[in-house]
Amino acid sequence: MLQIFLTYLVNSRFKKIIWQKWYNLLTSKLTDNRVTFMNYGYMDLSPDIKLLELNHDEQKEIYCAQLYDHVANAVPLKGLDVLEVGCGRGGGSSYIKRYLQPKTMTGVDFSKKNIAFCQKHHLIPELTFRIGDAELLPFEDRLFDIVINVESSHCYAAIEKFFAEAFRVIRPDGYFLFADFREKKVLDDIKKSLESSGFKIVKSEIITQNVLKAMDLDNERKLSIINQDISKYFQTLATWFSGCQNTPIYQGFQNGELEYFCYVLQKPSI
Ligand SMILES: C[S@@+](CC[C@H](N)C(=O)[O-])C[C@H]1O[C@@H](n2cnc3c(N)ncnc32)[C@H](O)[C@@H]1O
Repeated sequence: MLQIFLTYLVNSRFKKIIWQKWYNLLTSKLTDNRVTFMNYGYMDLSPDIKLLELNHDEQKEIYCAQLYDHVANAVPLKGLDVLEVGCGRGGGSSYIKRYLQPKTMTGVDFSKKNIAFCQKHHLIPELTFRIGDAELLPFEDRLFDIVINVESSHCYAAIEKFFAEAFRVIRPDGYFLFADFREKKVLDDIKKSLESSGFKIVKSEIITQNVLKAMDLDNERKLSIINQDISKYFQTLATWFSGCQNTPIYQGFQNGELEYFCYVLQKPSI
């Protein structure tokens, strides 16, 4: 089941168009601002569990925010210019701007509907959103100190084009904070591709078990949103994409076919 699903959506020649249509459709169905994140989440597994401290109305999306915190908090962002590629509905960019205090925060996504949602719902000084393709970023060279990319790169047609674009827009000594999931058998290819793009690997970790735990804890919330907002024809598909329990991606994490990775990469000084 996982194999067929991935072959179609991760390896297909048309995957970029399919994903774009899917995210535009999804955002037009999720009409209110209850859903500002679209990732599988992260949960600390240490004995003295640390939970993120958020404002009361943000608690419902705590696991998704914790994934951003885990990825973005790897380096200090205060006072820097940060770009998020594949910002979705903007919850992550908003979290970073308000809690980690970069000077400017820019979110880019190729879904027009997502960017319209972000521009309507996240009205925060020095936080801007614009339409853009990860494989052809609409920015001049060396404009950002940090590029962050969370659970978006599996949608891209050519990952090495994105790595080259991230490298181009980051200033020397800046960081690329990168997290997503893939089939275990291609993880080495991703690593090689990152290195041949010019990045130095500062840290790399597998966080699959943290993500699985978050998927368990967030399961009921996702099911209730899907039951309320998504028409019954798309509900099964929505449970698959959102990684509800016992769906192919969830099972892929459980049986080890899929891994969720998290990288801290640095662009060398000139
Ligand atoms: C699973 S969602 C994750 C969104 C967000 N990072 C989060 O964690 O909430 C993947 C996002 O990547 C965006 N995306 C996919 N391919 C893209 C591309 N080539 N360029 C820019 N954004 C893209 C989708 O529109 C979608 O919003």
